[in-house]
Amino acid sequence: MSSPNNDRKIILAALKNGYHLTEEALEILRRSEDPIRILTAVIEHVKKTDPYRIVLDAALMETFVQQMTNSQESAPLHEEESFICPEAQIIQYYSEDVTIEGQLEEFYRYFHSRYTKLRKILEERGIKFIPLSEIVKMKKDQDAAAAVMVLDKKDTGKAIIFECEDPSTSTKVLIPKKSGDVFAKAEMVLADCVVGMRLRKVNDTIIVQDIIQPDVPINQKHPKSGPDIYVCLISDTHIGSKNFRKDLFESFLDWINRSRDGEVKRVGYVILCGDLVDGVGVYPGQEKELEVVSINEQFSMAAKFLSEIPERIKLIYLPGNHEPVRKALPQPPLPGVYKKILESGRELTFIGNPAKILIGNRLMYLYHGQSLDDLIQALPNVSYSTLNESIGKVLEVMLQVRHLAPCYGQNTPILPLDNDPLVIEDVPDVLCTGHVHVAGVKSYKGVLLINSGCWQEQTSFQQSSGLKPTVGTAVLVNLADMSTKIKFFS
Ligand SMILES: [Fe+2]
Repeated sequence: MSSPNNDRKIILAALKNGYHLTEEALEILRRSEDPIRILTAVIEHVKKTDPYRIVLDAALMETFVQQMTNSQESAPLHEEESFICPEAQIIQYYSEDVTIEGQLEEFYRYFHSRYTKLRKILEERGIKFIPLSEIVKMKKDQDAAAAVMVLDKKDTGKAIIFECEDPSTSTKVLIPKKSGDVFAKAEMVLADCVVGMRLRKVNDTIIVQDIIQPDVPINQKHPKSGPDIYVCLISDTHIGSKNFRKDLFESFLDWINRSRDGEVKRVGYVILCGDLVDGVGVYPGQEKELEVVSINEQFSMAAKFLSEIPERIKLIYLPGNHEPVRKALPQPPLPGVYKKILESGRELTFIGNPAKILIGNRLMYLYHGQSLDDLIQALPNVSYSTLNESIGKVLEVMLQVRHLAPCYGQNTPILPLDNDPLVIEDVPDVLCTGHVHVAGVKSYKGVLLINSGCWQEQTSFQQSSGLKPTVGTAVLVNLADMSTKIKFFS
């Protein structure tokens, strides 16, 4: 680990704690496999045993290097030998040869598929629905439930009015503000989503009595234990951008190469959840923010970095909105020409966005997360400036509506395929996203909701929207017990 940059990191780590390193002590740390870990242990020891000391010398360092090396060498080797990493089964959604003509029928078929799939999920909850056309014909004070797609939502101040549709008809329904809990549920309902509604005819108006989201069942049985491996989730490196934090990514690479580190030893997969490179021509004026203006060179740089991830760790990569692939969801994997550049560094598995993968008995939905922008705009009490606290809540909504891109026609282009591939048909163990550059982990009804942060310093666009990115983070998921850890690299 000998480089001026690494020396600086070691010296700064000592200074931050109020200690000076002698040149000899620094030299010993330089030669060690894990200087920061050793230095941290020395500092902890000195704080307890010699509180007046401010200089850390070679003798002290040598003792700790020896002690820590011995204890690592005497660690049972069978742990490493018993590490078995199951092959991931990948279920893709993309279709390369699809031709969309923009005909009305295509959109009809797409929304019909979305409606049918989400209604089925609602029906699994034991609710009996009748056609909306029957609801319209109900007598005064009668009530019944319908599964509807919300076409439009208007807040009049005194009530929310939904325009709803099912295959039988469309109609308007109303929720007065004084409805308390139901009104709060109504605020979270988004256009183009499918929900169950208990409806009552009051005079000529249809009043919403309750709203049922497709959601995830409370009693969903997740496997108690899974494969004894860690999955390391990272996204939004944006290699090629002037704001790419190369230094932090190098710290990550240092860490992933610590073959004796207890955590690293268990890492079976690194998953790159999109925006590996910054791309070219992604938004107007991007060239001013690029360090590397050639897309091929961006991938060459990425190949070099990724080649430093040990070969024993499997690498899975899906594209985001910055990759040179079709922007509309579902996105295909990276095209062959760029694959080749990355593969010159090391082996990778290229998948589309989104994708489902099964590792052992753990089901993971991997999705770059383009539609998070739409959700942030549509949901009450959520904004970019508060995203560090609310990213978990936004992902929770995605799971409640059981759709990866619920709002149609906003910022997220979606292909109107006959079979809506973005419905979350199976309850996953993990839903992993990126895109908004804010790290967060939340457990919702046994499902881990993860956003893995980024490796790009705040951009001018983010600054204008008040978004504070979590830079230099990876999320570790232990598939055995589903525990997680956000790793911060400095
Ligand atoms: Fe990004």
